[in-house]
Amino acid sequence: MTRVLATSLAIAVAFVSLADAASNNFWRLPCMSRSGAARMDPLMAPGKTSDHLHTIFGSGGFSESVTQADLLDSDCTSCEVTQDRSAYWTPPLMFKYPNGSTVMVNQDGGMLAYYFVYGEDPKPFPEGFRMMAGNQFLRNFTGPVPDPAKSDWTADEQTQFSLSQKALGFNCLHYNTTDEGSLQRHYLPEKSFLDENCWDGLRLELMFPSCWNGKDVDSTDHKSHMAYPNLVNDGTCPDGFETRLVSLFFETKYDTQDFAGVDGEFIFSMGDPTGYGYHGDFIQGWQTGFLEQAMSGCTNPSGQVQDCPLFNTQSNEEAASCQFPVPSALKEENPLFNLHGLLGDVPIQLGPAQATLYGEAASALATGLGIIATSVADAVSSILPAAPNPPVEAHPTTTAPPVVSAKQNANVAQAAPTTTTTSAPPPPPPAPTTIITTTSPVQPVPTTIEKAVEFDIVYIDQEVVVQLGDNGVPLTTLAPVDRTVSTLTTSSTTTITELVTPTAAAAKRDQLPGHIRPPFHRHSHHRRHGARH
Ligand SMILES: *[C@@H]1O[C@H](CO)[C@@H](O)[C@H](O)[C@H]1NC(C)=O
Ligand SMILES: *[C@@H]1O[C@H](CO)[C@@H](O)[C@H](O)[C@H]1NC(C)=O
Ligand SMILES: *[C@@H]1O[C@H](CO)[C@@H](O)[C@H](O)[C@H]1NC(C)=O
Repeated sequence: MTRVLATSLAIAVAFVSLADAASNNFWRLPCMSRSGAARMDPLMAPGKTSDHLHTIFGSGGFSESVTQADLLDSDCTSCEVTQDRSAYWTPPLMFKYPNGSTVMVNQDGGMLAYYFVYGEDPKPFPEGFRMMAGNQFLRNFTGPVPDPAKSDWTADEQTQFSLSQKALGFNCLHYNTTDEGSLQRHYLPEKSFLDENCWDGLRLELMFPSCWNGKDVDSTDHKSHMAYPNLVNDGTCPDGFETRLVSLFFETKYDTQDFAGVDGEFIFSMGDPTGYGYHGDFIQGWQTGFLEQAMSGCTNPSGQVQDCPLFNTQSNEEAASCQFPVPSALKEENPLFNLHGLLGDVPIQLGPAQATLYGEAASALATGLGIIATSVADAVSSILPAAPNPPVEAHPTTTAPPVVSAKQNANVAQAAPTTTTTSAPPPPPPAPTTIITTTSPVQPVPTTIEKAVEFDIVYIDQEVVVQLGDNGVPLTTLAPVDRTVSTLTTSSTTTITELVTPTAAAAKRDQLPGHIRPPFHRHSHHRRHGARH
C-alpha cells in the first residue's frame, strides 16, 4: 500500500506542474472499499438493470435511480472523507479463462478519486451535478501513437473526441524502475506485455472534463454539459464552456500480475478487450457548501486527506462496512465470478468498428426483423408439413389468433450444423476465412497461416411466433425471443487468412516486437430447438 501511495503522489505532482493555475491545491480521496459491485448504472440505465457490471464507490445510498438527495441521506460512505457522499463508478477489468468463465481482477486499494483545483477561478460541483467520461462503445483510437508532446498538438488532437480518448490511461506498474507518466497509453496492453513488464499490475486512469456550460447540471448523454480543456487535464476551456469546475480524476489499480502465465484474456465488463471503451461516472454528493471550503482550505501539498484539517476521516473498517442494498433482481449475480462469459451475457466486441447495442436493447431492435425476414419462410416450410393445418382465420385480431410456435434454427455468423436435440452440443463449426484488423496505422499484410482459432459457441434458444392466415400463409411474425442456454469455448487448428501488422508497428505500440493484438476471437451463435409453449 505504501508503494501505491508513493506512485500516486508522483503522478499528482506531475499534474500540478503542468498547471499554470492560480491554485495548486489538490487532494487524493481514498475509497479503499467498494460500496458494491452490480449491473447498476443510474446515469445510463436509470431505474433498471444495466447491461454490464460496474464497481461502485462512495455513498451507501446508491441505487438504480439514485438522486443527489438519496446519496446525501445515506449515513455512510465507502470513501475516507465523511463529508463526501458522492458516487463514483467504472466498469471493472475481468479475466476470461479459455473455458469461458470470467473473474474480476482484484482491485488493489479500491479507487482513488483525485480532486485538482486547477485553472482560473474553479468552482465546486453545483448541486445535483452528474457527469460521465468515456464511451463504452469505442473500440479504436484515431490519433497518433504515442501522443505527440502537448505543445505540438494540432487542431485535430484538440477536438473534444480526441481529448476524451486521451483522457484514458493504462499505466503499467513496475515500482523498481521508472514510473510511466499518467495518461500516456490509451489502450489496454496485450496480456503478454502485461505479463512481461507490469509486475506490479496495471493502473487505470480516467480524467473527467472540467469545463462547464455554466447552467446544466446534467444532460441527456451525461456529457454535453461538460467539455475538456485543450490539454485534457488543463489548458483553455472551449467557447460555451468557460466555467471551470474542480477537476476529477479516477485511479484504480488492478492486480493483473495475478494472471501472469495464466492462459486467457483481459476484458472490460462491457465486452471490451481494447480498453478504448473504458468509462466512469460521477454523481456529486458533497455536503452543501463543503467542497468550496475544501478547495480553498486544503493547501497541504501532500494531497493526503489526513493533512487537511477540514476533512473528517474514517477508518478503513468503517468505510468497508458501508454497502448499498443490491436490488433483489441482481442478488443472485456474482460480480466476482461468472461460469459462462461476462455477467449479463455481454458479447465481446473487438472492434475496430464501434461496438453495437446488445442484450434487451438490441433484441428489441435488431435480432428480430432482419433475420426473420430472410429465414422465416425456411423455418415455416420446414416445420409446417409435419404439423396439422392450423385453423383458418382471416383477421387474427379479435379472438385468440391462430399461432404456430415455430422454432427457428438460424445462425447469424455462418452455416451452422443443424441441431435437433436439446442435450448434446453440436461439434465446433467449420472455421471460415477470418479477417482480423488491427488499430495500427501501418498497413497490415494478409497472410495465410495455420493457427488455433478460439470459438465461443453460444447456444441460444429462440422462439419465433408466426401468425398464419388462410392456407397456412404467414401473416405476421413477432420479434423473436432469445435466451442463452449455454456457452462453450473451444478451439481448433485451421488455415485462416490473417492481417499481420509489420513488426515495427507492433513494437511501437507496446515496445515489444512481434505482437499481434488481440488474440483471435470468433463469436458464433447457434440456435437450437427448445421447448417453449
Ligand atoms: C474454468 O476454469 C476456471 C479456472 O480454472 C474455473 O474456476 C472454472 O470453474 C472453469 N469453468 C468451467 C465452465 O469449467
Ligand atoms: C524489477 O523486478 C522485476 C520483477 O521482480 C524483475 O524481473 C526486474 O528484473 C527488476 N528490474 C530491475 C531494474 O530491478
Ligand atoms: C473507429 O471508431 C469510431 C467511433 O466508434 C467509428 O465511427 C469508426 O467507424 C471506427 N473505425 C473503424 C475503422 O472501424
